[in-house]
Amino acid sequence: MEIFADTSDITEITKWLRRGVLDGVTTNPSIMFRDGVRDMEKAAREIAEVLDGRPISVEVTSNDSDEMLVQARTYAKWAPNIVVKVPIINEDGVPCLEVIHALSREGIKINTTAMLSFNQVMMAAKAGSHYLSVFAGRVADEGHDPSVLINIASRWLDRWGLGKILVGSIRNVLDIQTAAGAGAHIVTVPPAILEKAVDHKYSRETVRGFNADARKALSKMQVLRVGTAPR
Ligand code: E4P
Repeated sequence: MEIFADTSDITEITKWLRRGVLDGVTTNPSIMFRDGVRDMEKAAREIAEVLDGRPISVEVTSNDSDEMLVQARTYAKWAPNIVVKVPIINEDGVPCLEVIHALSREGIKINTTAMLSFNQVMMAAKAGSHYLSVFAGRVADEGHDPSVLINIASRWLDRWGLGKILVGSIRNVLDIQTAAGAGAHIVTVPPAILEKAVDHKYSRETVRGFNADARKALSKMQVLRVGTAPR
């Protein structure tokens, strides 16, 4: 399973790359706005460069299909590892499948986003989307178990040799495990939650105990060495 960072914060991206955990990055307009990005092209190019070939998803910002096509073609020229995020439907419920299909046929890698159902995943995959983003937290907000969707969708994609389930909308550390256990191909996680996922108070306590004993043993050895030293 791959782990992506759900962020546009370059410091966090670099940190998690150094830690050897990161396989890619996802962004959306809300994430970029929250992270203080005001020049989308500059930020996307910078992230694409540090990712060194790993994918970075950048989302279209229009409700109009023709504008989405123009934006997507522009983004795709910024760097070879740019993946264009297109919503499954626009805000009026108009399917974006034609956009997804046209761009995929042009060789632009698509991440279909804002999906909450298995039917949406099937449609996007049929249209040619490589990444299929399901929003676990938002599925749970609606009172449904996201692991059921992740499981059935990832098995269906594997069976037919289609795209990858990318689980987003991760709200806590348990969501990562749930998505992984349900068969997600990729989980995209905000850096603060990645940080929490590594930490454990009992691990800290265990290490603290080992270090304290090591210090005690060391001082004993020094005492012994001093006591038995030849005159
Ligand atoms: C990632 O690809 C998604 O855009 C993101 O995880 C959505 O998260 P949210 O539901 O918390 O806004």
